[in-house]
Amino acid sequence: MKALSKLTIVLVSLIAVVAFVLVAQEKTFDEELAKSKFIEAKCNTCHAFSHLGIEAKNKSASNKAPDLYNYKIEHDKDFLVKYLKKEESINNKKHPVAFKGKDEDLDLILSLLLLHGKHDENHNNNTEKE
Ligand code: HEC
Repeated sequence: MKALSKLTIVLVSLIAVVAFVLVAQEKTFDEELAKSKFIEAKCNTCHAFSHLGIEAKNKSASNKAPDLYNYKIEHDKDFLVKYLKKEESINNKKHPVAFKGKDEDLDLILSLLLLHGKHDENHNNNTEKE
């Protein structure tokens, strides 16, 4: 009986540790690293990310790049990777510049974008433009 309760304690602690590790892994997205990759990739030449305190360097009125904070999520990450490599278009337009860095950096940048983006409940229809 004693041995059994010891075993129970060991098992319960083991489950707790495993659960903790899983939860911790879930949160390992490094926002600071993603932010620095965003700047390193020079996205901030054209795009502000106001929520993160990032301003667009190009202040010209002709700069049409949207602030990426509150980005309206209409495409998934796979699509956005292609869009940023100029392999896909949005509204028949390709992104003005092709991303030349590492795939893992682009992945981080897009995670940041999607993390702070919002799903638009009123526009779930993919075929709808605007
Ligand atoms: C030379 C300026 C410039 C740079 C640098 C730039 N962008 Fe853009 N980006 C734009 C413009 C302009 C648009 C809008 C294009 C359009 O409306 O067709 C855009 C659109 C986007 C969109 C689509 C937004 C939407 O409406 O769906 C995303 C996402 C995006 N950029 C991400 C990035 C990321 C990430 C980087 C850095 C790797 C980056 N951009 C670098 C100018 C730039």
